This record gives sequence, structure tokens and C-alpha cells, in this order.
Amino acid sequence: MTIRVCLLLVAAMLVFAAASIALSGAPVENKGAAEIKLPGGTRGPVPFPHHQHQNQLVDCKICHSLYPQKPGIIAELKAAGTLKKKQVMNKQCTQCHKQKKKEGLKAGPTTCAKCHIKEKK
Ligand code: HEC
Ligand code: HEC
Ligand code: HEC
Repeated sequence: MTIRVCLLLVAAMLVFAAASIALSGAPVENKGAAEIKLPGGTRGPVPFPHHQHQNQLVDCKICHSLYPQKPGIIAELKAAGTLKKKQVMNKQCTQCHKQKKKEGLKAGPTTCAKCHIKEKK
């Protein structure tokens, strides 16, 4: 009886180990947070649906050629002077949304208050 239980336990552990090796063997891309709140200066923060954009645009480089895949990097690079203030906003966010709109495709917001939200106190 106890031997049978032991054998079952060992078998279960082997299955678990095999499964974890199979899982860790596959390269898993870090897609980052699904939702990111970007600092928007005096205008207020900008909620950014990150995964929705990944699904829509597929190519990470569309955005991450300008800044690496790291939390808070836009603010960091702006503070360092590597990125200009509003550079991401104007050259990525707004520019793409306007372009898509012009082409009659699904697009994101193009007006200040649709992107920048007022923080609730
Ligand atoms: C439409 C633009 C855009 C696209 C496309 C995009 N990202 Fe991002 N990503 C961002 C922004 C903006 C941030 C936040 C940077 C910051 O916090 O300053 C970010 C941050 C990240 C981070 C760090 C934040 C975290 O939660 O860990 C990772 C990792 C990341 N992206 C991975 C990816 C991958 C992988 C892809 C492609 C499958 C991708 N991104 C596509 C805009 C984009
Ligand atoms: C599509 C979304 C979007 C729209 C539309 C938008 N913004 Fe932004 N804004 C951002 C993002 C993202 C940032 C942070 C990244 C950057 O500075 O490029 C930002 C940053 C800012 C900053 C802070 C810059 C700094 O670092 O001091 C100000 C001020 C600002 N926006 C004003 C405006 C005004 C005014 C409008 C309307 C004319 C506007 N934004 C429209 C997304 C948007
Ligand atoms: C290369 C094109 C592209 C770039 C760059 C881009 N977007 Fe978008 N965005 C889109 C498209 C396309 C949609 C519409 C997605 C949909 O309706 O499924 C969208 C939708 C959105 C929405 C609305 C989401 C909703 O569910 O209503 C927000 C908010 C948004 N974008 C913010 C941003 C911000 C902030 C940035 C810059 C950090 C940015 N986008 C950069 C293409 C882009």
C-alpha cells in the first residue's frame, strides 16, 4: 500500500519535472505589462494599452527602435536628454493614429484629453 503511494508520488513528480523542462525549454518572450500608465507631464498621465498595440501592430520595433523594452525608460531617456519631450507622443502615438485615421483604418485617439487623463485625487 505505502509502496504504491510512493510509486504514484514518484511518477507524478517525473511528469511534473518533464512538463517544467518542456515549458522552460521554449524561448518565452517578455511582452511586458498589458496596460502601462505613461507619465504625461503637466497634462496628466497617459494610459497605454500595450498588449492591444502588440496584437494590432505585431512588430515590436515600430516603437522599441526608439526606446528599449524597459519600464520607465521614456521618462529616463527624456531626463537624460536622449529623447525630446513629446517626441514619443508626436513621432509615434499621434502620428500613427492620424495616419491610420486618414487611411480609414481603426485608429487611436488624436486629441489631448482622449490620451491624457486627469488623476483622481
Ligand atoms: C505602440 C508602441 C509599442 C509596441 C508596438 C510595443 N511596445 Fe513595448 N512598450 C511601449 C511603451 C510605451 C512602453 C513603456 C516604456 C516606459 O515605461 O517608459 C513599453 C514597455 C515595454 C516593456 C517594459 C515594461 C514592462 O512591463 O516590463 C517590455 C518588456 C516591452 N515593452 C515589450 C514589448 C514587446 C515584446 C513588443 C512586441 C511584441 C512590444 N513591447 C511592442 C510601446 C510599445
Ligand atoms: C495619442 C496620445 C496622445 C495625444 C493625442 C496627446 N498626447 Fe501628450 N503625451 C502623450 C505621451 C505618450 C506622452 C509622454 C511621452 C512623450 O513625452 O513623448 C505625452 C507627453 C506630453 C507632455 C509632457 C512632455 C514633457 O515631458 O514635459 C505634455 C505637456 C503633453 N503631452 C501635452 C499634450 C497636448 C497639449 C496634447 C494635445 C494637443 C497632447 N499632449 C496630445 C500622449 C498623447
Ligand atoms: C504604429 C501605429 C501606432 C502607434 C505607434 C501607437 N498606436 Fe495607439 N493605436 C493604434 C491603433 C491601430 C489603434 C486602434 C486599435 C483598435 O481599435 O483595436 C490604437 C489605439 C489606441 C488607444 C485606444 C485603445 C482603445 O481600446 O480604445 C489608445 C489609448 C492608444 N492607442 C494610445 C497610444 C499611445 C499612448 C501611443 C504611444 C505611446 C500609441 N497609442 C502608439 C496604433 C498605434
